[in-house]
Amino acid sequence: MRLAAFFSVAVAVAAINTTQDPFEQWRGPEAGHVRGPCPFLNTFANHGFLPRSGKYITQKDLADGLFNAVHFDANISHFLFGFAVGTNPEPNSTWFSLDHLSRHNVLEHDASLSRVDAYVGHADVFNQQAFDETRSYWGDVVNVESGTASIISRMRTCKAANPKYSLSELGEGFILGETAAFISILGDAQSITVDKKLVEYLFQNERLPTKLGWKRSSTPFTTDLLLGNLDKVRLEYNKQLKSTLQRKRSGGFHLNGMVHHWR
Ligand code: HEM
Ligand SMILES: *[C@@H]1O[C@H](CO)[C@@H](O)[C@H](O)[C@H]1NC(C)=O
Ligand SMILES: *[C@@H]1O[C@H](CO)[C@@H](O)[C@H](O)[C@H]1NC(C)=O
Ligand SMILES: *[C@@H]1O[C@H](CO)[C@@H](O)[C@H](O)[C@H]1NC(C)=O
Repeated sequence: MRLAAFFSVAVAVAAINTTQDPFEQWRGPEAGHVRGPCPFLNTFANHGFLPRSGKYITQKDLADGLFNAVHFDANISHFLFGFAVGTNPEPNSTWFSLDHLSRHNVLEHDASLSRVDAYVGHADVFNQQAFDETRSYWGDVVNVESGTASIISRMRTCKAANPKYSLSELGEGFILGETAAFISILGDAQSITVDKKLVEYLFQNERLPTKLGWKRSSTPFTTDLLLGNLDKVRLEYNKQLKSTLQRKRSGGFHLNGMVHHWR
């Protein structure tokens, strides 16, 4: 009898736990809620790891939310909060809302992987055509090489379509960091690889891919890990840019002598 009672209580508690598990508590934004250009922060708001309204996010909200969702340590959350709070148009504010991140050329930049440029349309809303171009470079696994190839392709496409195209040094750093971050958070931060399906699921649904077997990492993610992986993406980016330039030169001039002369 006692044992049976114990088990029925345990089952009831487990059921309550499941229904309160924020990884299972996904709800899209409602009237009055705001979202922004970052697919991950939108996702965290949809799970309630961040305020579901997307508004008035404090440093503590961000640190708690990113810790619970993806095991960020306090240092990286505080580091990123510093950037985020600078997008609030009110000076010296202690919070930001997800739509503040959309302000063009503060952090929001051209050549996004899944958004159109601000010149073309809503730079904060998922755009399937842009994302289809991005993922056409990925094999089953996204890694530093294929992740970088999609960045460079999006830069070229956006530049051709947007007479106001621009990219600051900070914007470029964010682009490289965003790719380093999505691979590390959804995949393996050590080998810098991730199953393409997990990335597609998150971008397209703004939902954590637990249904596909993704789990919060048991090891913390740190500023050093982010910046280290960003450096590796930057190295590959410089390498691919250089070889594109060489191909263009030889393709454009045909004669080796002229290429030599031009240089
Ligand atoms: C788990 C943590 C995070 C990950 C993995 C992540 C990843 C990404 C990715 C992959 C993009 C690019 C989307 C695209 O190009 O279509 C992006 C965009 C963005 N993220 Fe995050 N992010 C995270 C947290 C943050 C935080 C804490 C901030 C606060 C500063 C932030 C600010 C932004 C902004 C402003 C953009 C827009 C950039 C643009 O495309 O114009 N993100 N993020
Ligand atoms: C319920 O959740 C808490 C904390 O998340 C955990 O410590 C506890 O073991 C869970 N209980 C059951 C019965 O699963
Ligand atoms: C994160 O840690 C580094 C090294 O310990 C420190 O220099 C930096 O100020 C910290 N950043 C934040 C935002 O706390
Ligand atoms: C913001 O803070 C700085 C430094 O503390 C101060 O000099 C400045 O007056 C503040 N600005 C406003 C609008 O409160």
